[in-house]
Amino acid sequence: MDPYNNRPIGIFDSGVGGLTVAHAVKQLLPDESMIYFGDTAHLPYGEKSPEAILHYSERITSFLLEQGCKAVVIACNTASSVAYEPLQQKYGEQVLVVNVIDPVADHYSEKLAPARVGVIGTKATIRSGAYEKSIRKKDPDAEVVSLATPLFVPMIEEGFIFDDISNAIIRAYLSQEPIRSVEALILGCTHYPIIKNQISKFYNFSVEVLDSAAIVARSLQKMLKEKGLMRKGPEPPQDIFYVSDYTDYFEKIAGMFFEEKINLKKLNLWQDEE
Ligand code: DGL
Repeated sequence: MDPYNNRPIGIFDSGVGGLTVAHAVKQLLPDESMIYFGDTAHLPYGEKSPEAILHYSERITSFLLEQGCKAVVIACNTASSVAYEPLQQKYGEQVLVVNVIDPVADHYSEKLAPARVGVIGTKATIRSGAYEKSIRKKDPDAEVVSLATPLFVPMIEEGFIFDDISNAIIRAYLSQEPIRSVEALILGCTHYPIIKNQISKFYNFSVEVLDSAAIVARSLQKMLKEKGLMRKGPEPPQDIFYVSDYTDYFEKIAGMFFEEKINLKKLNLWQDEE
């Protein structure tokens, strides 16, 4: 029994991107404990097949369940776009499974439609058409244009942010039509909030740029409340961060988001397969 709902919230991504979501969750729900898993050994997910992405996502979700998580947030658009439905089917009865696409698509429909909206993301996310499908469920006539921007994730993971290289890459992608003339833009990758300011600047701050971090945190809060799962424990919450391969950069970015030194562990969940 867990009368205080002490069980942690599991959050996963291929790397540092999901930290944007984890940070927003921590801001909004500071009393919740969190287990973060960054699958840095398999990054980038955006270049992998749907089968491989599903395989990694299933293993991580079952690990988070073994750790007793009460919710699993797929803090990765690529994994959300191909693995959410199978994960929901397999684990939905045991745990709250949250994806990062539907809350953002709903936010667009409620607050910004009928603005012509652009979606940028990894190749796998854009190929899946997950945003279009989610937006068109509410708004069948929505004008959605999408563009894969595959260089952004390696660029961010290599630390090219706020500099001339990243500005040139952003310009090279976003100056293409029709993405250049959208009225709203969805950052369909959880890595992209790290360069949100540069992207907004490209559009002269005249385009509404949406990212999943705060929107997903609010939607998670609502679901936890509805299900009576908010933590009431008297002890301070605990956060643990796992990576499947250790990189200095992960620790550096995590340090940027979470001021105190994080509890970071390396864990290879695929040892048996090697
Ligand atoms: N952060 C992930 C996303 O939201 C993907 C990055 C990757 O390609 O691994 O799509």
